[in-house]
Amino acid sequence: MTVEMIREDFPILANHPEVVYLDNAATSQRPKQVTDAITQFYETANANPLRGLYDWSMRATALYEEAREHVARFIGAPLPEQIIFTRNTTESINLVAYSYGLTNIREGDEIALTVMEHHSDILPWQMAARERGAKLTWLEPDAEGVISEAEITAKIHEKTKLVAVGHVSNVMGVTNPVEQIIARAHAVGAVVVIDGAQAVPHHPVNVAELDADFYAFSGHKMLGPMGIGALYVKKEILDKLPPFLTGGEMIEYVTRESATWAELPHKFEAGTVNAAGAVGLDAAVRYLERIGFDFIREREEALTKRMMEALSTLPYIRVFGSADPAKHCGIVTFTVDGVHPHDVSSVLNEDHVCVRAGHHCAQPLMQFLGVGSTVRASVYFYNTEDEVDRFVRALSAVRGVMGYGD
Ligand SMILES: Cc1ncc(COP(=O)(O)O)c(C=O)c1O
Repeated sequence: MTVEMIREDFPILANHPEVVYLDNAATSQRPKQVTDAITQFYETANANPLRGLYDWSMRATALYEEAREHVARFIGAPLPEQIIFTRNTTESINLVAYSYGLTNIREGDEIALTVMEHHSDILPWQMAARERGAKLTWLEPDAEGVISEAEITAKIHEKTKLVAVGHVSNVMGVTNPVEQIIARAHAVGAVVVIDGAQAVPHHPVNVAELDADFYAFSGHKMLGPMGIGALYVKKEILDKLPPFLTGGEMIEYVTRESATWAELPHKFEAGTVNAAGAVGLDAAVRYLERIGFDFIREREEALTKRMMEALSTLPYIRVFGSADPAKHCGIVTFTVDGVHPHDVSSVLNEDHVCVRAGHHCAQPLMQFLGVGSTVRASVYFYNTEDEVDRFVRALSAVRGVMGYGD
């Protein structure tokens, strides 16, 4: 298996050799196995799933439930019903905040977060804290992005009822010590919500081994379609969890005054489900399994190392996070002295190099780092050394374009 062979599976890459796509942490590209699976669903099995008692609908239902089984296996969930399909990580975390949070958080409780969280893992907890009179407490990393054991012990204590932590930071690429955080949280009687948006595409994840209570992720960052994500919930919690959204599909029986709920996990999937999205996510999971995380990790590390070594020769560049490329999960975030990140990105775009510039939906982290915004280049296993070199060449010219004489 070579990267060149892999790139043939991605029409957008094969058809646009002039483009260097380094915004994979925002969304990945999709192989044709994924887009073909979606097309095939609409061409051979399209009907509203879970409703019809005719062949197309039953086939749509079977494909949807097969996708659930496969996603459950992929992340080590003991039972398929522990996977709730959502639109994305954001919706998964909101489901936990509204359903579990509003039911279980009380006045005076604490919700612990890290300052590295994506806004999707901050705002739902601000809402829950505001609604219930609880307080947010913040775990802070060191300069390399590492959260220490002492910080975990100090910030997660008897008052803590819930801990929300990103498995991998979308800015620094650091993998957080979720095992230690979960152990500490459970020791003080708190539950842990893991935002796995940046982890599931890059590492093998086993939610049962982690002993996670909730684990959220998005399909579109792991080769799947946009508009499908998932939430894993531990069985003991799931059995007691009230519904989040209500309406069709999630009921057993409705009277004028009240309703009873459908069995798990349909109780949490109100309205017509995104069956085509689930089928696409299933194809993405199969594709990732075929490629294998050893290959993914090896490619990401090689590309990140090449990129960081090249950036270290440019004195006006400051890279955030660890000096070790293996600890970046393919994400390199940096600033260019004297040039606004938006200008960096716009100048790179002239050379068809796509990177992300801004606060990366992590403004508390930007405040912690003392910057307003940064540039982020993020690789995936289908990127090439040549693309990294083209990015570095284009970046080396940015200050010149902006009028600097170096
Ligand atoms: C760490 C992290 N959490 C949450 C999200 C939100 O994901 P989505 O927009 O798919 O809901 C992202 C997306 O950038 C992310 O990187």
